[in-house]
Amino acid sequence: MTNLTGRMDDKERLEELRRDVPEKVAATDTLEELADLEAAAVGKQSVVAAARRSLGSIDPEKRREYGRFINEVASEISAAIDTRRASLEAAAEAAQLEQDRVDVTLPGRRPRRGSHHLVQEVMDEIVDIFISLGYTVATGPEAETEYYNFTALNFPHAHPTRLDTDTFYLDYGDVPEGVLLRTHTSPMQARYMEQNDPPVYVVVPGRCCRRDQTDPTHTPVFHQVEGLAVDENITFGDLKGTLAHFAREFFGPDTKVKFLPHFFPFTEPSAEMHASCFACAGRGCRICSHTGWIEMLGCGMVHPAVFEHVGYDPEAVTGFAFGMGADRFAMVRHGITDLRHFWENDLRVLGQFR
Ligand code: PHE
Repeated sequence: MTNLTGRMDDKERLEELRRDVPEKVAATDTLEELADLEAAAVGKQSVVAAARRSLGSIDPEKRREYGRFINEVASEISAAIDTRRASLEAAAEAAQLEQDRVDVTLPGRRPRRGSHHLVQEVMDEIVDIFISLGYTVATGPEAETEYYNFTALNFPHAHPTRLDTDTFYLDYGDVPEGVLLRTHTSPMQARYMEQNDPPVYVVVPGRCCRRDQTDPTHTPVFHQVEGLAVDENITFGDLKGTLAHFAREFFGPDTKVKFLPHFFPFTEPSAEMHASCFACAGRGCRICSHTGWIEMLGCGMVHPAVFEHVGYDPEAVTGFAFGMGADRFAMVRHGITDLRHFWENDLRVLGQFR
């Protein structure tokens, strides 16, 4: 009787399950909820499993029919669950795809474009003009010995720029020779000639340092481009022709130049070259401090004493040298009135010249 009662109860509960399951299945929102429902409906602890377990103890004639009924209910439930699972899985995948979606038609993020510093640009421009004349480019050490910075260049021992009030000396302890931050690029004249036989046509861009108080036109660190030409029969005419050509290339074809006598220990004669102002054609303006002229460089014929220091025969070769300040060129070229703008790293200053 208990078996029979149990069977009848089970049957009713199976009917009830069959009736309720579609609605419950439809109410599931997630695959987890659906799995829980599946376990409760057809899992090991379910009415379906209990009914199957009871099959062995019922009437053999009824067993087949009841077994079929249980299977029918179970497969109906499983079918409903499988259908729901498929649609929940499809929805989950669609949601994932939607979330991972990339709009390949959006414009990319542009990296900020950098540029060379104005001073670097000007140095490159100067160097290029001389490269097109057949010059080569060399660079030298920024920490230089007293010998190359001064002695080889014929600076007398008592020359004021040798003083540490004018020059940054490096403290290397008790070394036979002072080491300093070079005060100009001219030491490369001597170094280059020591390493190379004439003819020499070379330009040397580089950083230099002097103990200058910072103000609108002075900074303790600045940049020069040095030039040196040594060959047989080089004359002051070659110097003038070369540097006038350079001035016209740099400032424009109508540029006029003038040479004023000057003094450098390593050149004789020495001169300063000025160029007519590119901005006002010599009439006078803010750029040229109303003089009509822009001071461009120092230059001169290589002093025989320098040739002797590097082992060149001053009877066999002659040459000229020049040196110019790239920072000042950059100021003049771009109408910048305060040198300090170059070093304050305000990208608004540098970026506008890109
Ligand atoms: N070295 C000099 C200066 O710094 C410039 C110069 C270079 C002059 C070469 C003559 C020849 O002022």
